Amino acid sequence: MAKPKRRYVCQACGSVTHRWQGQCADCGEWNTLAEEAPETVFSAKHDLSGGGRRIEFEPLDKPGAPLQRRSTGIAEFDRALGGGLVPGSAILMGGDPGIGKSTLLLQAAASIAKSGGEVVYVSGEEAAGQVRMRADRLGLAGAPLRFAAATSVRDILTTLGGMDAPALLVIDSIQTMHSDQIEGAPGTVSQVRGCAFELIRYAKENGCALVLVGHVTKDGNIAGPRVLEHMVDVVMSFEGERSHQYRILRSIKNRFGPVDEIGVFAMAGAGLEEVGNPSMLFLSGRENPVPGSAVFPAMEGTRPVLVEIQALIVRLASGATPRRAVVGWDSGRLSMLLAVLEARCGLSFSTAEVYLNVAGGYRLADPAADLAVAAALISALGDKPLPDSSVWFGEVSLAGEIRPVAHGSIRQRESAKLGFRTACGPPDGSAGIKEMRYSELTLLPNLVDRILGGE
Ligand code: TYD
Ligand code: MG
Repeated sequence: MAKPKRRYVCQACGSVTHRWQGQCADCGEWNTLAEEAPETVFSAKHDLSGGGRRIEFEPLDKPGAPLQRRSTGIAEFDRALGGGLVPGSAILMGGDPGIGKSTLLLQAAASIAKSGGEVVYVSGEEAAGQVRMRADRLGLAGAPLRFAAATSVRDILTTLGGMDAPALLVIDSIQTMHSDQIEGAPGTVSQVRGCAFELIRYAKENGCALVLVGHVTKDGNIAGPRVLEHMVDVVMSFEGERSHQYRILRSIKNRFGPVDEIGVFAMAGAGLEEVGNPSMLFLSGRENPVPGSAVFPAMEGTRPVLVEIQALIVRLASGATPRRAVVGWDSGRLSMLLAVLEARCGLSFSTAEVYLNVAGGYRLADPAADLAVAAALISALGDKPLPDSSVWFGEVSLAGEIRPVAHGSIRQRESAKLGFRTACGPPDGSAGIKEMRYSELTLLPNLVDRILGGE
């Protein structure tokens, strides 16, 4: 009989090779390949063409029970989930350490427990004393939720099997769980995958909503297996700069709702507070206009949020390679925009250092930010402040055209509400609203003329 092949699984991305290597060929991480039990050749042992059970085909238009969602008692959390927790669904909650995942989940768990739902909160990371202290600080020590510090999935499932299924089960975190059925230390791909599989199966069979907390690596992926993202129904990411107060809960994948909704929170002395109207949050209080600052009306799902984009350009005298540093935006996108400004508008950034910052620790994903970033860069380069009552939005193409973006009128209405009077954006007849002067820009050189012109 042929010897089963050795099998090495990358602990970061889950890819499989048959030869040990120092670096994973798929994700590029070093020293992440670990040997796992060899695969049995399934199809060699089983002839799949006979002995199966016939499956039924189902029509898609059969009326089913409408989706019942359960509110978490935290409106911003519900909004990010697309309307609340779906029974039997599995949610993966990722985020940097210390960002507030445990705090948010404890608050949600306590609120569901107080409204009469059964909640089980299992912490594998913190001892009961630590969690009690947090609950005390949050004023939730009296909430009737069931808490346990445990890491064995077998123990957890045995306990759950002996009681009524809870409405919500929180596992904090999946990386600390282990199963005695599976080889390997907690946190390895096979453990994380196996434990998650068992817990998700329990949730689906018993109609309980399951939240798995997942750690995030330094490059922002949910640590360990990307495979976890495929196993769950909803992937949420809790983001923010730890040094800033604001936190954004974003859904990255949602089988039961929209993916672009966000929930906004502020970390305060007594836990996370909801921020119902976040549109002002990311604007710095500006008295005098400064060069290099542009306001961008971003869209987060159905909600407009005004953010300030700041650019700084420092000319270098020597021939040293200039730095480009970006906080809160895609650095590849910045390089593209600089190249377009150089090629289509004749502006030279090649001997200058370029710094770009999105104020308030906000991370921009909206492609309509291009025009505002370009405006901030041009204003910084020319050392001319932009008019302080204007907002900028639009996508820039490689040819230097300003392309239409969605929700022009919502962006403008919100800007008008906050006292802005002029919007500059792509040619789009329907975008105009009466409180705002709308200035159409077709090409990037028009933007340069508008900002630097009149000298
Ligand atoms: P935590 O929920 O433990 O983060 P995670 O589970 O994502 O690792 O949050 C920890 C941080 O939140 C910690 O740095 C202190 C801060 N915090 C407050 O500012 N106020 C509070 O009421 C609580 C409970 C935490
Ligand atoms: Mg935690």
